Amino acid sequence: MPYEVQGVVSRAKGQPVTLETVVVPDPGPGEAVVSVQACGVCHTDLHYREGGINDEFPFLLGHEAAGRVDKVGAGVTDLAPGDYVILNWRAVCGTCRACKRGKPWYCFSTFNAEQPMTLTDGTKLSPALGVGAFLDKTLVHSGQCTKVDEAAEPAVAGLLGCGVMAGLGAAINTGAVSRGDSVAVIGCGGVGDAAIAGAHLAGATTIVAIDTDDRKLGWAKDFGATHTVNSRNLTEADVVAAMQDATHSFGPDVVIDAVGRPETWRQAFYGRDLAGTVVLVGVPTPDMKLNDLPLIDFFSRGGSLKSSWYGDCLPSRDFPMLVDLYLQGRLPLDKFVTERIGVDGVEQAFERMHHGDVLRSVVEF
Ligand SMILES: NC(=O)c1ccc[n+]([C@@H]2O[C@H](COP(=O)([O-])OP(=O)(O)OC[C@H]3O[C@@H](n4cnc5c(N)ncnc54)[C@H](O)[C@@H]3O)[C@@H](O)[C@H]2O)c1
Ligand SMILES: [Zn+2]
Ligand SMILES: [Zn+2]
Repeated sequence: MPYEVQGVVSRAKGQPVTLETVVVPDPGPGEAVVSVQACGVCHTDLHYREGGINDEFPFLLGHEAAGRVDKVGAGVTDLAPGDYVILNWRAVCGTCRACKRGKPWYCFSTFNAEQPMTLTDGTKLSPALGVGAFLDKTLVHSGQCTKVDEAAEPAVAGLLGCGVMAGLGAAINTGAVSRGDSVAVIGCGGVGDAAIAGAHLAGATTIVAIDTDDRKLGWAKDFGATHTVNSRNLTEADVVAAMQDATHSFGPDVVIDAVGRPETWRQAFYGRDLAGTVVLVGVPTPDMKLNDLPLIDFFSRGGSLKSSWYGDCLPSRDFPMLVDLYLQGRLPLDKFVTERIGVDGVEQAFERMHHGDVLRSVVEF
């Protein structure tokens, strides 16, 4: 029997989200229904609501979730009802060119559930990042479920499903931060602080946190920032100088832009050391442009300019490992949870995110 549950839906660009009855079908072949226990509120959910990702309204929001498998469809052999899982948006196919070359984190043919979740009038919902998890039960592809140690509570574990993984991976996978490196992170929300935690875990010795909000900079220190810079009233040259001051005037080896705006990317580009790395993990909107960047600057500064999609993670490899590090006390994942809210609190959580009051609001079911 399909479920009818209350879910958080974004019906139109820029409009407040609403709670709607969502029909969740029984799982088809290769699919699973998961009882969502917790789902974090990510900035990407807000990007969807603002029309910054695409125009495929209505969206079913929520995608940073953990829960228990409720039902599995035909042919699902590696999951069973009761399994404790983190949902992911990278269920790799195993057969595309990227997968076959041994780089499955670039898989361009990832699996999502084939059946749609709908409103009661049959309108198909577009699930955020192919997940859709601000509701009691959700339908996903079985490959979107990664089993982890159930000793990690859902509100904490679920955050690995998106933003925290993206930030950790931006540092340890994409940026390949290693022992003794210097790192700067621009934008210290959930994603940026995870990048700081990742740089700390990897052994970076200098970690510069840059944000326009002093509260965020205070939290960044809890994750391992050694220096903080409030860039609210600073010019690009000032921010670059602040990065150099913290690194014996060289500039950091790796600068991670967890905001994703032309001005922050330029700070990263000019702030890093010669032949240093820029990692863009914040998501720009389609209208943003880099203007007037001299091509000679690309050439003469060398190094590597990268983007990080989901922290170049491989859920099956990274989620269990990171949960284990958390349970061993070596990765403070619980510090990302600023508040726990009900499923009716997402719109207010967007407000608090907008005002910088939270790292992560987590909806609990
Ligand atoms: N690449 C990926 O796979 C991936 C995954 C998840 C999220 N994201 C993106 O990462 C970004 C950050 O997400 P979040 O959840 O941490 O958001 P957030 O809103 O919690 O954090 C953003 C932070 O940036 C700061 N900030 C804003 N403008 C700034 C500026 N000009 N200079 C310095 N700091 C500034 C804010 O004060 C805030 O602390 C978003 O764009 C989100 O869509 C990317
Ligand atoms: Zn693939
Ligand atoms: Zn997200």
